Amino acid sequence: MSVITIVDRKATLNLQPGHTLMETMDMAGVNIMHACGGNCICGTCNVEILEGMENIPPPAEAERMVLSKLKRKGPNIRLSCQCFPTGDVKLSIALTQPITA
Ligand code: FES
Repeated sequence: MSVITIVDRKATLNLQPGHTLMETMDMAGVNIMHACGGNCICGTCNVEILEGMENIPPPAEAERMVLSKLKRKGPNIRLSCQCFPTGDVKLSIALTQPITA
């Protein structure tokens, strides 16, 4: 089974197929902000993917739009509510920063 490693929480979770990174963390009791409830609006669920980006499909247009408005930027920043991993992923829960349009 694939695992999700959250380095800044010292947590290793089993990948839950068909669930987002955010849902997987939530089910395991790992708290992460998700102000819009996973609807790809707020950006507060952003994480930094440290390893395993190849196991996450590229962002769709809606995710790219939200990511473009975050203060924190970079090719490895993703919205955990929009990522459906297919294999091992190592991540850091990024500082949550709401959109400042
Ligand atoms: S929870 Fe709001 S964008 Fe992910």
